[in-house]
Amino acid sequence: MSKGKVGILTAGGDCAGLNAVIAACVKYGSSLGYEFIGFQRGYEGVLNPPDYRILTPDDVKGISHLGGTILHATNKGRFGAKMGEGDVARIPDDVLEEAATNLKALGCTHLVVIGGDGSLSGALQLSQKGVKVVGVPKTIDNDLAATDQTFGFSTAQSVAVEALDRVHTTATSHDRVLLVEVMGRNTGWIALKAGLAGGADAILVPEFEFSLSALVEYLRGRKAEGKGSAVVVVAEGARIGGQTIGDGIVAGGEKHYGGITNELMARINAAAPGEFEIRNTIIGHIQRGGAPNARDRNLARAYGVAAMDAIDQGLNQVMVSLRDGHIQFVSLTEAVEKLKTVDDTNLEYQTALKLGVFIHD
Ligand code: F6P
Repeated sequence: MSKGKVGILTAGGDCAGLNAVIAACVKYGSSLGYEFIGFQRGYEGVLNPPDYRILTPDDVKGISHLGGTILHATNKGRFGAKMGEGDVARIPDDVLEEAATNLKALGCTHLVVIGGDGSLSGALQLSQKGVKVVGVPKTIDNDLAATDQTFGFSTAQSVAVEALDRVHTTATSHDRVLLVEVMGRNTGWIALKAGLAGGADAILVPEFEFSLSALVEYLRGRKAEGKGSAVVVVAEGARIGGQTIGDGIVAGGEKHYGGITNELMARINAAAPGEFEIRNTIIGHIQRGGAPNARDRNLARAYGVAAMDAIDQGLNQVMVSLRDGHIQFVSLTEAVEKLKTVDDTNLEYQTALKLGVFIHD
């Protein structure tokens, strides 16, 4: 006899490892006696008209190494519950009721939500409508304080390091300043960790303000020492003169970032006309796409298995979390409460500064 029917959805931006979580849930969960349905396009699939497919162990064979999500995903959409820098948007009650009613009608006893801060914030609100929810922490930004690591981050970091390694050769061959833009809306984990690993000369993150004049002076100083090239890694959410840079579009209560290196290049050129030959590279969704690396595959699998353990142990309103190499279950409330930001106690931050990397004035 079935122990229950578990719905799975992948919400928010895609990242490497989503399919590995889905596969682990279905394979392990089936062995425990659960049945599965996968909702398409994140929360959109739970809303009218419901859009889902049955998932059996056969359906998830050979997908764990693939990027993206077989269930598709929607970033924002009707279930937008942004957490971001502390703001929680309340999902309209009728939308929550619609989702809860549809889940009940489909016989879903539990829902596994694979998502970042916004999606898990939505999961918390849905669970307050009586839906039994378990969250799995996903985001390349690695910005959830309630877990040591989100899956997707490691792969994104590796991609960014490879990008930095590659632009280094052009920077040195042409004595250029190369600006490399990586993702990271509110936090600079990709920029900092990839920047240190990839030998960046400057790392600009949302957490630390820098002045343009100090950055220009730093670049001049390098030039005076005979180092004509510089590689500067910039998180998309970093601020120039206290301002984030985006295209003005706001989706689901969040600004659409991207393009900070275009602006930074223009401002350096204006502040130091003709002094530097500058180019920029925005790696964008390249860091979110493609196959997960070994670390993310294993973490995603462990999270998928843990989500089913949580359900089997009768837990509800929890997120699976990694702490010191072990799985823990934390309440969804705690999971979305706080973002993990870079601060001056961070090892990579301290190491970078001691190695002469420019982070702030
Ligand atoms: O939250 C993860 C993230 O990769 C952010 O760093 C970035 O701002 C956002 O997703 C981009 O989302 P989209 O692909 O919807 O533009």
